[in-house]
Amino acid sequence: MTRDLVGIKDMPREDIEQVLLTASSFKDVLKRDIKKVPALRGKTVVNLFFEPSTRTKTSFELAEKRLSTDVLNFSVPMSSVVKGESLYDTVKTIESYGVDFIVIRHASSGAPHFIARNVSASVVNAGDGINEHPTQALLDAFSIIEKRGTLEGLKIAIIGDVKHSRVAKSNIYLLSKFGANIRLLGPPTLVPEIGDYGAEVFFDMDKGLKDVDVVMMLRIQMERQGKGFFPSNREYSRYWGMNMKRLKMTGKDTIVMHPGPMNRGIEISSEVADSAQSVVLDQVTNGIAVRMAVLYLLAGKGRQGAE
Ligand code: CP
Repeated sequence: MTRDLVGIKDMPREDIEQVLLTASSFKDVLKRDIKKVPALRGKTVVNLFFEPSTRTKTSFELAEKRLSTDVLNFSVPMSSVVKGESLYDTVKTIESYGVDFIVIRHASSGAPHFIARNVSASVVNAGDGINEHPTQALLDAFSIIEKRGTLEGLKIAIIGDVKHSRVAKSNIYLLSKFGANIRLLGPPTLVPEIGDYGAEVFFDMDKGLKDVDVVMMLRIQMERQGKGFFPSNREYSRYWGMNMKRLKMTGKDTIVMHPGPMNRGIEISSEVADSAQSVVLDQVTNGIAVRMAVLYLLAGKGRQGAE
């Protein structure tokens, strides 16, 4: 593993495989009565979330505690950030405590990369703007393999607001390294040119859903969009929402994923979200084991000093 996890785009396939394998061992640990291991005792992690989060923040914190690290949760609204302190000064201040990991979520794409260039701690990207959300893609891959045994050759439809989704981008980078057949479904305004990752684009949901093995719904990123990407939520739901009628058009073994938080009734109906084919809560559960694996493997290559 490299010293930081800032994205999937440049992460070698072997490193991803190592994370998935290690996560599998940690998942066994999490099934025991005593779910804690001393693997990272003595290490310190700071969780630095400049954007709201439920799943990522809580599962990182649980992962850190299960690995016996000391955890510091940095509360941005109660910090000197609100007095105008820069990101650089904030992380340099935290670094001076001798922390080993900085887990960061930030609205600016590239913020984790900037921090990684300026601190001696290992940096883990917990979502940066519209760029990447690497641990989400890793837990998604883990969840797909758990249900379907492989990624290779699977037809995986990523549906909705690809343009503003860091989850979609990290998943596209990961799935393309493992030979999945990626389909991007959505209105032309929300499906951008994504580059040479072998993804097939469909502007007709029913055509794009034919024979898929995995449906990955994306949240409409209300906070990142301007107006005018689609006429109304009602229209979006009609053309791009996953409902039981559409789910029945796929196979009975097709799994439905969503990174959360879900806009129920817009990109996904409650019936689908709560159906037997939904693996949304399995994704959340797997987030702990995968994040444990990431921290554990990064610790094995902890850097000694800033470059
Ligand atoms: N999937 C995800 O990033 O969810 P949160 O925003 O709740 O962390």
